[in-house]
Amino acid sequence: MTAPSTPFRPFTRLLRITILGREFEVPEDNPVLRCFQYLAPEEVSYGSFCWNEECQNCRVTFDLGDERPTREALSCKLMVQESMRIKAVTPEIRYCLRTLQLKKDE
Ligand code: FES
Repeated sequence: MTAPSTPFRPFTRLLRITILGREFEVPEDNPVLRCFQYLAPEEVSYGSFCWNEECQNCRVTFDLGDERPTREALSCKLMVQESMRIKAVTPEIRYCLRTLQLKKDE
């Protein structure tokens, strides 16, 4: 018998991150888009994402804390880090995370 398949890379703990001002716990060692999928499994699974750096629908603006530079990245390739703060997301991500009741972009 094989283990059930999961879209997530193996993880042993959850990291605390902030998405548009709200705190969430998401699996370490995973790209940020997978972390979004962890929080909203169905919505992100059926979202319009290529998962391969082509569509640009997963772009986020983020920083790693106060005094750290704000950057843009593709969340399908960006690995999550402790204390990451997602400050802006695309309309597609916002739509997929609508059940999380996020605020507007910071
Ligand atoms: S999901 Fe298409 S570029 Fe990231």
